[in-house]
Formats: sequence, structure tokens, C-alpha cells
Amino acid sequence: MAKRPASQYVCQECGAVHPKWSGKCDSCDAWNSLVEEVQAESVPKGLGAGRKGRAIEFVGLKGDTPQPPRWLADMPEFDRVTGGGLVQGSAVLVGGDPGIGKSTLLMQVAAKLAGKHGTAYISGEEAVEQLRLRAARLGLSDAPVKLTSATNVRDIVATLDAPGAPDLVIIDSIQTMFVDSLESAPGTVAQVRTSAQELIRLAKRRGFALILVGHVTKEGTIAGPRVLEHMVDTVLYFEGERGHQFRILRAVKNRFGPADEIGVFEMTDGGLKEISNPSALFLGDRDDGEGREAGSAVFAGMEGSRPVLVEIQALVAPSSLGTPRRAVVGWDSGRLAMILAVLEARCGLALGACDVYLNVAGGLRIGEPAADLAVAASLVSSHTGVPLPPETVVFGEIGLSGEVRPVSRTDVRLKEAGKLGFTGAFVPKVRGKSKGKDGPTKEAVSIKALDRLDDLVALFDDGHPAVRPARSVS
Ligand code: TYD
Ligand code: MG
Repeated sequence: MAKRPASQYVCQECGAVHPKWSGKCDSCDAWNSLVEEVQAESVPKGLGAGRKGRAIEFVGLKGDTPQPPRWLADMPEFDRVTGGGLVQGSAVLVGGDPGIGKSTLLMQVAAKLAGKHGTAYISGEEAVEQLRLRAARLGLSDAPVKLTSATNVRDIVATLDAPGAPDLVIIDSIQTMFVDSLESAPGTVAQVRTSAQELIRLAKRRGFALILVGHVTKEGTIAGPRVLEHMVDTVLYFEGERGHQFRILRAVKNRFGPADEIGVFEMTDGGLKEISNPSALFLGDRDDGEGREAGSAVFAGMEGSRPVLVEIQALVAPSSLGTPRRAVVGWDSGRLAMILAVLEARCGLALGACDVYLNVAGGLRIGEPAADLAVAASLVSSHTGVPLPPETVVFGEIGLSGEVRPVSRTDVRLKEAGKLGFTGAFVPKVRGKSKGKDGPTKEAVSIKALDRLDDLVALFDDGHPAVRPARSVS
């Protein structure tokens, strides 16, 4: 029998294992991402002739398993994202760009929880003095958090696998941890995976909640080990635009609660401050007076269970280039291309020779197709130079044939708009129901139901009463 190779090559981007080195990973097409790893021991192929397996017992779906206890940090923005508190024995991965504020957030969470539960903060990135300086800056020096600086997983496991272990353990970051039985350097896929595995196994056994911090590569995946996302119960991303003060904690996977929930924070001199009314923040510096410019539309969106109003800005201008520029911040560029194509093909707008810039104000990233209509409204508004009527929100999905499709949670969106003083809404027409007709709703927001994208464009064309005429530029 041929001897098994002692080495294998693991892609640091996607975790794929290759028997031979090559310049490019076959599974994710990344260049120079393969790193040699020496296998600890060779595993026999298949089950081999080892011991006979035990029979496994099956059970019914119903049983009286008690709900695991949850630990609330008394930070509503954080607790909502975790699905109502951290679960005993669960593992949470908090990913984000370096410098976005992960350590600051977790230091604050640790301090809040430490009053009620034993909490340990293990940092592999900063020395104890640095951590103390941060705690002092945050005004948290008196919180009974157990602090240490360590990177060897064997030491950490030995320390935590003892009576009186803490209820919450924070590891900052998983990329700095290493298992000494592996030869590869800390931060490689093998080290990150094995370290996480050991720590998660211990968390399940001893019943503490484990929070792992993971850095994100510039492509936006948690550095190399996307494998980590499968191993943990909850994946949270901490995001924010450089130059903006606010940060969004987003649940992308949660075995104990809804995904897609967001928590909004603002980075201040004294740490992260919770923002309980994000709409007011995202619309904060919007100019809603008489001098409002064309090209802006307010989108009534949903982030998880919460409505969020956000301004979408477009600039459509004749291009001096052969290939017009298309730039998008905060939205999907493929989706913008689709809206532009529908506006051209179905509504006859000549946008082909125009540069198009689209910006979601405030640094929020929108993923909902419901933003289509608001994007289209801002584009048409910029193109025609006619501003949208004041205090109007827009939402609806657009189909390729130019139809405006209904979206979920219309009532919640309208209620939020009404709460923030908006008086009008452009919404999809609900077919086959009397609901959705023009007229005031109980939220005191008068709605204009649109069936097709043409209906929206027509509002700008012929000076519909709902739309103010463009200011004359003589
Ligand atoms: P940090 O939590 O160290 O980021 P990460 O752990 O994600 O790498 O945050 C670092 C940034 O936050 C740094 O640029 C300084 C800023 N910051 C504040 O603005 N206010 C504060 O109170 C603290 C502690 C940090
Ligand atoms: Mg940090």
C-alpha cells in the first residue's frame, strides 16, 4: 500500500484541503492561499477493522428538555442581537474589521455581566496594562471581570476546566490562539479550527457561554476560517463605515434566536453608546426643509424585527466617459444594474449614457429587495431634477417586467414612518384586496399605491399633485 502523505495543503481562505501545493486554490480560486500542514497522525481510510460501533438510541421529538438559562447583559441592543441573552454552553463568534470596536464592545458586555455572573476576558492581542487602560477609559475599572493575557489553548483549557470556572469566557481573538501540538503558526486555518474546537468543546462540557472574536479579511469573510461559522451557534458581525461614528452588530446566524437582527451603537470617547432609535440617527442630518434637492428618497426598511428609516441618495449625471461610471455605497451593485435596466427597458428612461452614483446615507448596508422602489425613486428624481414630495417614505420590490411587488411588514413600516412624522408613502399595490388604495390609513400616513414602475415615473413626468414641480432655473 502506498504511504500516506505526511503533509497536506490547506487553503487559508476557504479551508479546502489539497494533497499537493499549487498557486491557486481550486475550490475558491484564491491565489497563494495554500499553506502546508503536517498531519498529526495518519488516519486509516474508512472505518477499517477497529472496534465494533455501539447501537445509537433514537427518541421522539417531544420531551421535557428545560429551556437553557439565558444571561442578559442589560444592554438592549446587544441582547436583541443574541436573541434574548447569551445561552449557557453556547459559542458566539463576533467578527469584524480590525479597529471597528469589537474589544470595546466585549469589554462593556463583560463588565455588565460580571455583576451577576463570573466573567473572564482572555486577550491574546493586548497586554493586561493595555486592557486596564481601556477599562479605565470606559469607566469600568471597578467591574469584577477576571482579566488575563494568554494565547496557549492548553493553558486556557487547564485553567477553565476546574471548579469555579466562569459563566462567560471571552477570547479576543481566536486568530491569536494556538494549540502547541500543531506545527503551523497561529492564525492559520488549522490552528484557528483546532483552538476553536477545543474551546467550544470545553464550553459545552462546563456549561459556560463562550464568545470568540474573529478578524475579518478584506474580502469580508472571517479571516480564512469560514469553517468557524459552522462550528459556533451564533455568528455576529460588527460593522461600520470608516469615518462614521455608528456601528451595527448584526446576527447572521443564530441557533437560539432570529438571524438578521441588528443592534445599533455609536462609538464615543467613552466607549460604545446604544442607539435605541436608529431611524432618527440615520435620518439625523437630512435636510427636509424647502431647499431639498432632487435625488433623495427615504426608504422604510426592516432590519430583523425592527423598522429602520434611511435616506437613499442618487446622482445621475451625463457621462464624459465611454463607459459610464456606476458606484454604489451601502447597496448591491448588481441590484442597481437591474433597476437601471428596468427603468430603461420598461419606462423608456435614457440612463445608458449617464454616470450613476448611489449612496445609503449614514453608513447602513441594505440587503432588502424592498429598497428597489426607493432606489428607483431617487434615481428618477435625480434624473428629472424633481424632488420627491416632502415627508414621504418609499418601499417595494421591482420585478424585471417593471411590476411593483408587495413586500412584507407593510404595517410596521408605515407605523414607524408615522411615528417619525412622515405623512405620505409610495407603496406597492396589493392585488386582489381592497387594502392599499390611496387614502389615509390609521397611521395617518396617506399612501399612494403603485402597480408598475411606470406609475412612479409618471409622478415625476406630469407634475402629479403629490409631487412638487421642479424649481425653475432660469
Ligand atoms: P477596538 O475595540 O480596539 O477594536 P477591535 O477590537 O475591533 O480591533 O476599538 C478601537 C477603536 O475604537 C480605536 O480606533 C479607538 C476607538 N475607541 C473610541 O473611539 N472610544 C473608546 O472609548 C474606545 C475604547 C475606543
Ligand atoms: Mg481588539
